[in-house]
Amino acid sequence: MTPDLVSISFTVNGVPATAAVQPHHTLLDLLRDRLQLTGTKECCAEGECGACTVLLDGRAICSCLVLAAEADGHAVTTIEGLAVNGQLDAVQAAFLEKGAVQCGFCIPGMIMSAKYLLMTNPDPTPAEIQDGLSGNLCRCGGYHRIIEAVAAAAKAGR
Ligand code: FES
Ligand code: FES
Repeated sequence: MTPDLVSISFTVNGVPATAAVQPHHTLLDLLRDRLQLTGTKECCAEGECGACTVLLDGRAICSCLVLAAEADGHAVTTIEGLAVNGQLDAVQAAFLEKGAVQCGFCIPGMIMSAKYLLMTNPDPTPAEIQDGLSGNLCRCGGYHRIIEAVAAAAKAGR
């Protein structure tokens, strides 16, 4: 192996994976450019917009702020990993049902943040939903329906 590459083993969406990564490459680079998991979006690349949100060991993180090498030994879940056997996750279904999607660019990150919110707080108030999504920016400005969708997903899970 080229000496400056770092060998990592991790799981992505429940599937074991290995990769040799550059020390400076981010988890976002690994997911999008190497694994072709392009549901996770790159926008600001500096932790400001939330478009790149994934779950790392069940916690929502900005994958643009985490080095790929830091995924070694850990479990990554991306938007591609939410549906099971072709069945959308309740949060995905609620976004569709409520028409919360406009251009769609922010939506994978929104859904992953919403997923984490509902894992940690299954019955959030509207203010708690706003707070839980405060790290995710939507340039289409469709926050109202997004918040409605998260509330509907919470209700469906009760
Ligand atoms: S692309 Fe990671 S927070 Fe914006
Ligand atoms: S739906 Fe377009 S950026 Fe949010």
